[in-house]
Amino acid sequence: MSELVTCTKDGDVSIVTINNPPINASSQAVREKLKAALAQLRNAADIKAVMLCCAGRTFMAGADIREFDLPEIPAPDPNEIHALLESMQVPVVAVMHGTVLGGGLELGLACHYRVALASTEMGLPEVKLGILPGGGGTQRLPRLVGFTKALDMIVTGKSMSAANALDIGLVDALFDGDLHAQTLEYCRSIAGSDCASRVLGRLPVELSATDKLVLEERVNKLPSTEKGGNAARAAAKSTEKAGSLPFAEGLKYERQAFIDCRNTNESKALRHVFFAEREAARIPNLPRDLGLRTIQSVGIVGAGTMGTGIAMSFANAGFPVVLQDLSPQTLSRADEIIDSTYQGSAAKNRITPEQAQHRAGLITTTEDDMQLSSCDLIIEAVFENFDIKKAIFKRLGQIAKPGAILASNTSSLDVNVLAQCSGRAADVLGMHFFSPANIMRLLEVVRCDQTAPEVLATIMHLAKRIGKVPVVSGVCFGFIGNRMLEGYLREAEFLLLEGATPGFIDKALEDYGMAMGPCRMIDMAGVDVASKVVLEQKKSGNLPDDDTYRVVVQKLHEQGRFGQKTSSGYYRYEGRTPVEDSEALTLFSDLAQQHGITQRTDISAQEVVERCLYPLIAEGYRILEEGIAYRSGDIDTVWLHGYGFPAYRGGPMFYATTIGESNVVASMQRYAKNTGNTSGYWSVPASLSKGAN
Ligand code: 3HC
Repeated sequence: MSELVTCTKDGDVSIVTINNPPINASSQAVREKLKAALAQLRNAADIKAVMLCCAGRTFMAGADIREFDLPEIPAPDPNEIHALLESMQVPVVAVMHGTVLGGGLELGLACHYRVALASTEMGLPEVKLGILPGGGGTQRLPRLVGFTKALDMIVTGKSMSAANALDIGLVDALFDGDLHAQTLEYCRSIAGSDCASRVLGRLPVELSATDKLVLEERVNKLPSTEKGGNAARAAAKSTEKAGSLPFAEGLKYERQAFIDCRNTNESKALRHVFFAEREAARIPNLPRDLGLRTIQSVGIVGAGTMGTGIAMSFANAGFPVVLQDLSPQTLSRADEIIDSTYQGSAAKNRITPEQAQHRAGLITTTEDDMQLSSCDLIIEAVFENFDIKKAIFKRLGQIAKPGAILASNTSSLDVNVLAQCSGRAADVLGMHFFSPANIMRLLEVVRCDQTAPEVLATIMHLAKRIGKVPVVSGVCFGFIGNRMLEGYLREAEFLLLEGATPGFIDKALEDYGMAMGPCRMIDMAGVDVASKVVLEQKKSGNLPDDDTYRVVVQKLHEQGRFGQKTSSGYYRYEGRTPVEDSEALTLFSDLAQQHGITQRTDISAQEVVERCLYPLIAEGYRILEEGIAYRSGDIDTVWLHGYGFPAYRGGPMFYATTIGESNVVASMQRYAKNTGNTSGYWSVPASLSKGAN
């Protein structure tokens, strides 16, 4: 293993290089070695400047997050290193490239000068991990770029380009090409300059009346401490301290606030999310030397909403796409949607007009399925009709070129059966996109019984290339996400029958942090679509054959209340605004009466949250027991990216551990008793019971 920190010389310039792949995280060992190297350099008489560089793909991209789980973050503290840098007698230049984030940018801020490759991105993303910068970021940045700009970067956690960083004075020079050689030249030009005047801690910072106003406005817009806003609020407060405390005290304040934040559930959850997302992309027990199949072109069968969205996902990443459908009307509507989506993005300056034209040009629409035959990957995305899908897979098995991967976008049908129909089951898997497919990041990659390992690995890799977050699921009803959703929706419906209103249920779950409550969600997705899934799945025996099971959605469907598209569903709609509707409420109470369910007025928000979430969590445990998901973090990733579960709660499985599995079990047993349900709705999976003991 190469040295973590090395010190070399080029003439009278000393070059300190950190080498801790992949992202040069500031681990205890890195800090220790860097401290020792800098302490030695302080006494060197024969140098005129120091270059502080990082090897590999990036300058330091932050502290080593894994250390945050330790009872104490091991010494040395980054502030010790920063103090050493600031006390150097010769100018120290941070030589930045790649993604300079968090503790990496803080390291740069402690140097006298900062230069960067033009392609560099930089930022202080700590709030995204539920913490705030803990190495002087909130104290030095306002002194360098001004309070308001610093506050914006620190509270949003957003990165900026090197060009913007140059504009606001965050970096002193940008280079293209040979960063090392150009920085050497730069070092020689500044040698002998008064570096003490460049020590940021010595600069004054005062909050103007406008700054104070901006601060107040910003803080008012942040979520509450309980709803994921703890870190951003703490970060804003610490940044404010830059203007009111002497520098050394400001640093102490910040460090303590950082330590406090790292111990919150918000930060633990967000750190879990960070690692779970990366872990989800890994397939256990794959041979190391597994070669991937080459994917350069994509075919899609079915040009409806899903097919069109999937086509745009691939075109956005530069893939040529053949979008095939038997209906010319559907194809021309797809063309219109594609054009208007890209033109809309260009109008909002998200992409250039040239990019819009290029992306639209990558998608060829056709009625002729033989145009799919040369594609490396073909995704079937027709509506959920098993017979039609079976026929398509049979045909694809005949026309696709050897080695092509065949995928189904089904959300509920048995992909193993489709694989058999193709006659080449090893090439087949599921790719379950979420609507709108060009926007939603989740992709459930469904591993069939006979899917070849390299096919699975190729699609996981490809998913990342198109900006998706892939999670592997085994074959089962609803895969990971929709299978867990079922218990959640079941209880939401029972609560309606028991007298809770859609508005009350949605508010309780939205207050918990869900992006959208279940009633609004179904109204948006379509009551007709949801009801058909229930009907079909009841027929296939995947759902309980119980008169009251999801009876609400079926009744709404029967009444033509399809949701937003018909301006009535669980709610009545004024434009896009849902309004509580007395007709719907009567419909629920009539249904309750019909099924002998007594309505009550004592349903609390807590009951709503527990009754909807605990069956969902229990299903997650079953999914793990059955090996449908590899890891509980995978399940959390599905819920965060596909269903708007709040990241600051870490996902349903992580949430269960924060409230205690024994509490989940006790509540489930209480609801089993209270509801008197005998259909096993509240049965506790063995692994959840075990976790509770
Ligand atoms: N600590 C520990 N491991 C880290 C890490 C970190 N800060 N950042 C990335 N890694 C690991 C990842 O887990 C991954 O490991 P794996 O290969 O075993 O899965 C590996 O490094 C590569 O990461 P990515 O897969 O994310 O690589 P990308 O090239 O896609 O992205 C990145 C690189 C933009 C740097 C991205 O990893 C990232 O955003 N990292 C987090 C940056 C961050 O939040 N920094 C602030 C940390 S907190 C801090 O600095 C506190 C300070 O104020 C005291």
